[in-house]
Amino acid sequence: MISILTIVGARPQFIKAAAISRAVRNHFGGRVREYMLHTGQHYDENMSQVFFEQMQIPQPDFRLNVGSGSHGQQTGDMMKQIEEILLTQRFDALLVYGDTNSTLAGALAAAKLHIPVIHVEAGLRSFNKSMPEEINRICTDHVSTFLFPPTEAGVQNLEKEGFRFDAQRAASPDNPLVKNVGDVMYDNSLFFAELAETQSTITQTLGVHDKPFVLCTIHRDFNTDNAQRLNALFKGLNAIAETGTEVILPCHPRTKKKIESLTEKPHDRVRITEPVSFFDMIKLEKHALQIITDSGGVQKEAYFFRKPCIVLRPETEWVEILHTGNGILADADPEKMTEAFHRFAGRQTADYPALYGDGQAARHILDEVLSVLEKPGNA
Ligand code: UD1
Ligand code: UDP
Repeated sequence: MISILTIVGARPQFIKAAAISRAVRNHFGGRVREYMLHTGQHYDENMSQVFFEQMQIPQPDFRLNVGSGSHGQQTGDMMKQIEEILLTQRFDALLVYGDTNSTLAGALAAAKLHIPVIHVEAGLRSFNKSMPEEINRICTDHVSTFLFPPTEAGVQNLEKEGFRFDAQRAASPDNPLVKNVGDVMYDNSLFFAELAETQSTITQTLGVHDKPFVLCTIHRDFNTDNAQRLNALFKGLNAIAETGTEVILPCHPRTKKKIESLTEKPHDRVRITEPVSFFDMIKLEKHALQIITDSGGVQKEAYFFRKPCIVLRPETEWVEILHTGNGILADADPEKMTEAFHRFAGRQTADYPALYGDGQAARHILDEVLSVLEKPGNA
């Protein structure tokens, strides 16, 4: 039996973890024992617990309760506590998702103890190192033994950084296994789409079931912590609301803290709510006219549900969405936002070619990992 310690801590990681946990439960029961560690990076009920309940994620075996803090403090605290756990119990591998401080802390702690690191969502790059996430993902990729980029762009980025793609499966931090197996978030969107449709009543609750609305999320530090940018974003949203369209904005706690000090007061049709559950989010995404976001995950979900996406950033890691014409970078420029909104509103047809795998990424990841770890001498 291969034992894997999965590190989660932030909202998108709970969501991604649901896919692998489901695959372990349904297909690898006798071969993999997954332990879950929650760093406590996100802790509000609607940023954490709601996902465990709704998406049937096993309750964490370990809880670190690190909470919020500066990057060094938060990451250091996590590393210290993860290392203690890794020293008291044997794990065959440690699995991390994406690019948060929880990802980096887990990867560094494990790699230095020579425990193979599995990086799900490897290879993505914004080429902008002022983003903490860019630093986290580069460092994590370079200490990982198994790298699973979700897109061809991710594979190419790794290739440019010197990762080799020989078929032999030695798999070590010096010769990692790199494979695009698709995106676990796509697995989830397929799996939960119908459930969300029948179980979520969010569109009725918000009174937009029969009304046109756009869905918006904002949480990146460079948008929330820069008053000029945040005001510009609300200027853009207000202009869109002026056209008669409701703007539904489930608000990350980081953003909520800044909204009161906005000089650009939100229009009545800009509806700021608490963060919503995953089912509510999917329902909103499926029914929205367009999606406006600086989130990584929400950009992809817009694509999965065939919705045009206005990206509130100067660049994106999900470049393929731009290449298909279904995403536009508007940065924090109100004019670009409204121009993109009108361009998408006026378009007649759209093509969303399959880009994110076959909906079974989680199974493929476990197959690849086991093909190495189950070899005699490895486990
Ligand atoms: C983190 C990730 C980011 C990811 C996002 C997903 C890092 C560096 N950033 O950003 O990549 O896209 O999660 O949502 O890891 N807060 C609460 N309650 C909570 C959680 C946060 O009030 O449950 C507030 C705190 O004031 C905290 C702030 O939000 O200081 C930021 O939280 P933090 O986890 O540091 O970063 P995120 O912006 O959430
Ligand atoms: N999400 C959610 N409720 C919300 C906002 C987002 O369930 O109120 C989900 C969303 O559907 C996606 C994920 O959270 O699956 C994206 O996480 P987030 O935007 O926090 O982080 P990022 O993907 O940018 O790292």
